Amino acid sequence: MANYSLSRSWQSQPISTRIVRLFLGVTWIYGGWNKATDAGFLNPASPHYIGEQLKGYLATSPIHLILQKMIEHASLMGWAVMLGEFAIGIATLLGIAGELAALSGFGMSIVLWLSATWSVKPYFLGSDTAYAILWLALFLSLRQSARSRRITSIIPNLKDRREVMQLVGVGAAAIVASLAGKKFTAKNPTPEAGAAIATLAELPIGGTKNFQAADGRAAVVFRTSAGVFAYSRICTHQGCVADYDSAAHLIKCPCHGAQFDPSKDGAAVAGPTNRALDKIKVAIKGNNVVQI
Ligand code: FES
Repeated sequence: MANYSLSRSWQSQPISTRIVRLFLGVTWIYGGWNKATDAGFLNPASPHYIGEQLKGYLATSPIHLILQKMIEHASLMGWAVMLGEFAIGIATLLGIAGELAALSGFGMSIVLWLSATWSVKPYFLGSDTAYAILWLALFLSLRQSARSRRITSIIPNLKDRREVMQLVGVGAAAIVASLAGKKFTAKNPTPEAGAAIATLAELPIGGTKNFQAADGRAAVVFRTSAGVFAYSRICTHQGCVADYDSAAHLIKCPCHGAQFDPSKDGAAVAGPTNRALDKIKVAIKGNNVVQI
């Protein structure tokens, strides 16, 4: 391998390749950062837990047998995905083992497509197909330029100490970024169970109100003539925050179109999940609605 130069790795590429490389590198690092700063991603008690996300894909994914195996080692998979996203993003931006990083990004996008966005219809609303194509285009562009420099292998030469040190550097940076993310985990003060969610005046019969549940989840409470009931607004597909649409009388997820019916125990009635929203126990106490 010729001497590594970050600026040359960018300058030597056509503008179209640079745009795709920059976008994918930044997006993959952002994906890793999102997971690193999510306190629930590796916490089995959380609805954001990677294992819960994987379970949500089982019913529709064509690779459900593989997902089942992953669920048995969900935390390990979570670390692998987070570190993998950081490593692929960093390697892509730095131009270290760029072809291998692009091929890994392509593989990761295909797995995400076959699991997380397989049931999104029409297909173009799911982002993973687009990412897979972008990674493939980047890989082919890098391969073409490597061939013109008579470089045949996409695997770094592990006998070359400098190349090994670069790979170790990428791995170390991915670990440091993952651990740094834990320091920035959002620590929002959460209301205690028993604290008032709303007064009865704020929540008349027929009314709804968004609130934060005692475990930190975004939630929504409804009041009818029969009493009060509430659901988590964390979508059971991939954990986006859903919102109540008062015109449609449905709780809708903006990410991939899941819809939940609050009048049917929060059942999923459309979109890529068949799991109902989690219920949150609430009651009327005095003049207040409280979580119990
Ligand atoms: S996160 Fe995918 S539909 Fe809600």
